[in-house]
Amino acid sequence: MQKIPVEVFPSRQEAVSQLAAETADLMRSNEAASKQTVLGLATGGTPVAYYNELIRLHREDGLSFANVTSFNLDEYAGLPKEHAESYWHFMHQNLFNHIDIKPENINIPSATIAVADIPSHCAQYEQAIVDAGGIDLQILGIGRSGHIGFNEPGSPKDSRTRAIQLDPITREDAADTFGGIDKVPTTAITMGCGTILSARRIVLMAWGESKASIVNQAVTGTVNDIVSATYLQEHANAVFFLDSAAASML
Ligand code: PGA
Repeated sequence: MQKIPVEVFPSRQEAVSQLAAETADLMRSNEAASKQTVLGLATGGTPVAYYNELIRLHREDGLSFANVTSFNLDEYAGLPKEHAESYWHFMHQNLFNHIDIKPENINIPSATIAVADIPSHCAQYEQAIVDAGGIDLQILGIGRSGHIGFNEPGSPKDSRTRAIQLDPITREDAADTFGGIDKVPTTAITMGCGTILSARRIVLMAWGESKASIVNQAVTGTVNDIVSATYLQEHANAVFFLDSAAASML
């Protein structure tokens, strides 16, 4: 029944401790080989505990991010960097301001690029990932629409970084933090499914009962373009890290 490897943990803290330890091992072995580590990073409520654990390893274990290059999955269109809900702001608040990553190694799609320049901006984003050597470890959450990044229903498997219309479920889920659905942007720039699937390893995290149904569809359903997370079934090194509530329908 399960078409993607799944690891179920008693709590999210145990899950993120294991994932942060894996990330630290990867960073240290790359550093020993004088190589950069390229991380694909996610936003939302899901990865916050993971980022807290990385910050703890930086502070208490001396884990250095000086050799890390990061690429974020996505960004809302139209929000200035300083907007409290921009992903630029989120990443600085929740991770980058607390570690020693070099600002020039941080990559987040631009929210304020002129519409006419979006295709070239997206092509440059793809090229920057290639130039960095590809993504070693891609971190994902999953939306109730089944999206990974902002690859909403209908996203092709080979899609690349592009502008996308947000699904009504996604906007509804963001309404509280924005202070009303009318304030949630209608479009975003997202890495494509193909961009994500090019990563050498992918870990999707999900916590809580509200994710149980979509996790079940992603892990046991047929591969389809409605639930873009089902494409992960066709990746050779993708795994879901779940707490017991998110795994409750498997
Ligand atoms: P969440 O969002 O982490 O806030 O639940 C996940 C997602 O939409 O990918």
